[in-house]
Amino acid sequence: MTHHWRLDDGRQTLVLAARGGSLPECVYWGAALPGGENLETLVAAHALDVTGGMLDETPGLSLCPEAARSFPGQPGLVLRDGGGTPLQPRFSFAETREKDSGLHLVYRDAATGIGLTFRFKPDLETHVITCETTLNADRPVHLHWLAAPVLPAPHLSDELIDVAGRWCGEFQLIRTPWSAGLRARESRTGRSGHEHFPGLIIPARGTTNTQGEAYGFHYGWSGGHRMLAEELPDGRRQVQFGHATGSQTTPGTQFQTAPLYLAYSNTGLNGCAVAFQRHARDRIIHQPNRTRPVHYNCWEAVYFDHKLPDLQDIATRAASLGAERFVLDDGWFGRRDDDTSSLGDWQVDARKYPEGLGPLINHVHALGMTFGLWFEPEMVNENSDLFRAHPDWVLGPMDQMRGRQQLVLNLARGDVRDHLYARIAAILSDHAVEYIKWDHNRVLPMPDAAQTSGSYALIDRLRADFPQVEIESCASGGGRIDFGILQRTQRVWLSDSNDALERLRIQHDAALFLPGSVTGSHVGPRHCHTSGRTIDISMRAWVAAQRHMGFEMDPRELTEHEAKVLADVTRWWKGNRDWLMHADILRLDSADPAVIAELQLAQGGSRFVTFAAKAATSAQISPRPLRLTGLEPMTTYRIDLINRSAAPGLSRGSPALKRGPLDVSGAYLMGHGVTLPWHFPETMWVLEGTRL
Ligand code: DGJ
Repeated sequence: MTHHWRLDDGRQTLVLAARGGSLPECVYWGAALPGGENLETLVAAHALDVTGGMLDETPGLSLCPEAARSFPGQPGLVLRDGGGTPLQPRFSFAETREKDSGLHLVYRDAATGIGLTFRFKPDLETHVITCETTLNADRPVHLHWLAAPVLPAPHLSDELIDVAGRWCGEFQLIRTPWSAGLRARESRTGRSGHEHFPGLIIPARGTTNTQGEAYGFHYGWSGGHRMLAEELPDGRRQVQFGHATGSQTTPGTQFQTAPLYLAYSNTGLNGCAVAFQRHARDRIIHQPNRTRPVHYNCWEAVYFDHKLPDLQDIATRAASLGAERFVLDDGWFGRRDDDTSSLGDWQVDARKYPEGLGPLINHVHALGMTFGLWFEPEMVNENSDLFRAHPDWVLGPMDQMRGRQQLVLNLARGDVRDHLYARIAAILSDHAVEYIKWDHNRVLPMPDAAQTSGSYALIDRLRADFPQVEIESCASGGGRIDFGILQRTQRVWLSDSNDALERLRIQHDAALFLPGSVTGSHVGPRHCHTSGRTIDISMRAWVAAQRHMGFEMDPRELTEHEAKVLADVTRWWKGNRDWLMHADILRLDSADPAVIAELQLAQGGSRFVTFAAKAATSAQISPRPLRLTGLEPMTTYRIDLINRSAAPGLSRGSPALKRGPLDVSGAYLMGHGVTLPWHFPETMWVLEGTRL
């Protein structure tokens, strides 16, 4: 007897099947199949031949490959009983349940008392399938590894794209050729991490940003994950995602993976990117329709040196440039004059703010801005009243290494969470704070899933009691970005790099997973504090305008010209944000490697904007035509270079776009491409398009 199940979201079909009572395997994942496809036939067609050097049957690449069934690769489950003896269950079918939460497939092993439930839920609008695995045991067991539903990877694929990074250099795409054996990525720092964003894209051979097939994966967990991509001796390929191994440190009777998000595309990497962007924006984030205000964040202007008159002056200038939310960063609490002290002491520093935060907040409000405040709740400095009172609240041993002179509080403890809740709630109740920048600046002393669950519980409690307060996830920039934290926050601080050139690349690559509306991007100082580069205001402003815009420089440094450019770009962003913050970000295939370009397409396709940035000097003299994407070939669009006045003197010709708008077909724009005027490196053309 064969069991089979079919999941469709209109763009992708996933077929699961099991012979007898064995665990199901994915026998098809790809472009939507016809409604009448005979699944029995698919299952029969899926079986592999057997030849020399093989077992007499091929062990199934199931949703949880079983070590005890001769599976020749990494198993989906590694656990021990309470006494430490390895358990190797052999699961049999128990039941299927269809619920609002999706399809649940339940399996049990009577001999070990272990059960597995696989859940799958397709989303017909975002075209993302969400799945997860739950383990139940009839007595406490030690879990080392549990994979979310394990999926096969395509054979017509030469490489994997996963994501590495570092502080000020997040979202670096790593392309690794498939070969026999294992590629493993594991974040063991207790955060999703700068180094290992939990995502994977498997392109089919020849796939680019705009064409070809791709399979996307994202594991929505902030506590560190493990990814395995393995090619078996018989040539089959499997992908596993789960929590970092051994991070569930106490025995238990139930363990659940985080959701694994799946997206198939036959429109290039962009198909996966758009599915993830829409899913994050429309399903993961709460209140996705709230207008995104222009931020001002004072960190790179004053650091810890808070002086009320200076901050008021800065706020006044920021508002006149167009800022709508003023975020007071680190340095307002305890006796926090540098990063050696006060984390944990969440009381306003009376030396810096003798009358409390009221005068600053009132000033900010009088300017028409709202007020946001920085916290780093999960951390403590030894030089703090909190640590002196509760040294036992620290996570891990006291002889551990420090990070930024700080230690981590043990959020698995209810009393620690209650204390932090009370301190933060008091600040939120006593002040008109409508935004929290929630930072997390050091790694954990060891991976610990209970810490992440504790952090989630604290944030969830605050969100329930202060639903109007938005939260930004920051961890020295982009150290905690994933759909798990985004379920409880509205924005990520993508990177501490306000270098527009680096930001351009980071946010371009992050768009494989993140929509513009959650991706913070700020105009930094003229001389970048983290790279030493000097970048023109126009480039800085347009790079920030590609995402959720903000400023972070000291506005007192701006020349009249710089202030005007910044105010103009900010005005443009505000005039367009209503559609931009719901647009799809489509990465363009740039013929010139020096050009990083993307097209942001309004829902419904009536308008778009293309940002074409020259990140380096081109090898050739003339700009190569830039092919657009996502347009209707037989429709005419009016395209207009809105910053043509930025053309440098060395652009001596008069191409049509330098003179005015053009009406051209989508077919031309996508097939030939737009020929932009010559421009300097580190500058950006901004091309608007409207469907006629
Ligand atoms: C790290 C963050 O990424 C910065 O933006 C800033 O908030 C500092 N922490 C403050 O300590």
